[in-house]
Amino acid sequence: MDMENADQKFMRMALDLAARGRGRVSPNPMVGAVVVKDGRVLGKGFHQAAGGPHAEVYALEEAKGETAGATLYVNLEPCCHFGRTPPCTKRIIAAGISRVVVAVQDPNPKVGGAGLRELEDNGITVTTGVLAEEARRLNEVFFKYITTGRPFVSLKAAISLDGKIATRTGDARWISSAESRRRGHELRRAADAVVVGVQTVIKDDPLLNVRLSAPQMGDGARQPLRLVLDTRARIPLTAKVIRENPEQTVVVTGSDPPAHKVAELKAAGVRVWTLPLRKGRVSLPALLAKAGAEKLTALLVEGGGTVNAAFLEENLVDKVYLFLAPKIIGGATAPTWVEGKGVDRVAMAGLWRNAGLTKIGDDLLLEYYPEKEEADVYRDCTGTGPGTTGDGTERRALLPDRCGGNGERFSPGRECGGERGLLDGNQNRG
Ligand SMILES: NC(=O)c1ccc[n+]([C@@H]2O[C@H](COP(=O)([O-])OP(=O)(O)OC[C@H]3O[C@@H](n4cnc5c(N)ncnc54)[C@H](OP(=O)(O)O)[C@@H]3O)[C@@H](O)[C@H]2O)c1
Repeated sequence: MDMENADQKFMRMALDLAARGRGRVSPNPMVGAVVVKDGRVLGKGFHQAAGGPHAEVYALEEAKGETAGATLYVNLEPCCHFGRTPPCTKRIIAAGISRVVVAVQDPNPKVGGAGLRELEDNGITVTTGVLAEEARRLNEVFFKYITTGRPFVSLKAAISLDGKIATRTGDARWISSAESRRRGHELRRAADAVVVGVQTVIKDDPLLNVRLSAPQMGDGARQPLRLVLDTRARIPLTAKVIRENPEQTVVVTGSDPPAHKVAELKAAGVRVWTLPLRKGRVSLPALLAKAGAEKLTALLVEGGGTVNAAFLEENLVDKVYLFLAPKIIGGATAPTWVEGKGVDRVAMAGLWRNAGLTKIGDDLLLEYYPEKEEADVYRDCTGTGPGTTGDGTERRALLPDRCGGNGERFSPGRECGGERGLLDGNQNRG
C-alpha cells in the first residue's frame, strides 16, 4: 500500500474512533488517534470525556515501548497548551514519534497551527489535510463553537409528504416511523440541549428526553437540557418537562415574565432564563449567546413551525434534518414545519445544499446545510465577490443591514444580528 492510501486508511480508523465520543465529550471535540509502525497498529485511543485524557494519550500508552520512529494519526491538531490536561505535543515528542499525520488544524484562532509548529521544531515530520473534509464535518459543532462562542444549531422535523407536522386538529403522533423516531433520539443524544416553543409543550406535552436502550445510549452519554421558549411563562406546571426531571428543563422567558409564575417554576425545580425581547418574543440571538456562555455547544431545535420559522428568519440554523414520511395529511390549516410570515417572492427564498439522503424503511432522512456561496453573492453589497466588501470589511458585519430582523429573506448566513466572539484558548480541549 502506498503512503497516501495508508494515510487515508489509518486516518479513517482515527475518525471512527473519534466518533465513539459523540454525545460524551462536549464542549470538547471528538478526537481519535492511532499509532502505526511498519503498517502495524500498535495503539489506538479516543477522547472519552471532557476533562479526561486526550486520544493521543490513550494511543501512546497502548503502544508504550514501541513508539520510537512510529507514525501517529490524529484527526485534530494535537494540543500544545495546558488546559485540564498537559499538552499532548510534549508526550508525542517524548515518545519519539517520527511522523504525525493530522486531518485538520485546531480551528481555535488562538492555538491553530502552534501544535504542529512545535512538533516540526522538534524534528517530527508533519502531514496535514488527510480526510480533512470528513474531519471538519465530524467536529462541525466544535468548529462553530470554538470560533464564534455560539452553539451549532440543528433543526429537526418529522414531516408528511405535504410538509405538515400535525393535522388540522393538532394530532401529531406519529408522523414518522418508529425507526425514524429512534434516529431522532440519536440526534437528541448528540445535542447539549433540545429547543421547543411553548405551544408544542401545551399541545403535545412531550418529554423531550433521549429514549434509547442502554447499549444504544453508550457509556457516559447524558440527557440533553430541554429549553422551552416561553416569553410570558405560559407553560402549565403540570407539563411533563416540569414534572419529570425538572432539573433538566429551562424555561426561557422574555424580559418581564409574571413574577409569581417564575417563583412557581423555580419552586418546581426548573431553571428560568430571562432574556431580552426581540419582536415581542424571546430574543434568539440572546438565547444563543446565553447557551454559548453556558457551554452548550449543540442545540437541536424541534419546533414547532413558529419556532422553526423564527430561527430560519434570523439565519441561525446551521443544519436541517428532515424525516420525510410517506403520508399526505392535507388541510390548509394543518401546521407546516416552517410557519411565520415567509418571503414574498421565490427569488428571496433561502438556498440549502443537500448533504445526505438516507432511506429509513419507507421514510427518508434528508440533511441540508445553508448554501453559502449563493448567499454570499446575494449579500455582497459592493459586487466585489465573496469574502470581503470593497473596503475590506468582513461581509458578515453587513448581515444585519440585509436581514436584520425584517424577515425579508430566509438567508443561510450565520449569526445574523448576533454578536461574534472568540473563546479563550484554554477552553479548547480541556
Ligand atoms: N412533527 C414534528 O416534528 C413536530 C415537532 C414539534 C412540534 N410539532 C407540532 O407543532 C405544533 C406547534 O407548533 P406552533 O407553531 O403552534 O408552536 P411552537 O413553535 O411550538 O411554539 C411557538 C410559541 O413559542 C413562543 N416563542 C417564544 N419565543 C419565540 C421566538 N423567538 N420565536 C417564535 N416563538 C417563540 C411563542 O409563544 P409566546 O409568544 O407566548 O412566547 C410562540 O407562540 C404542534 O401541533 C406540534 O404537534 C411537530
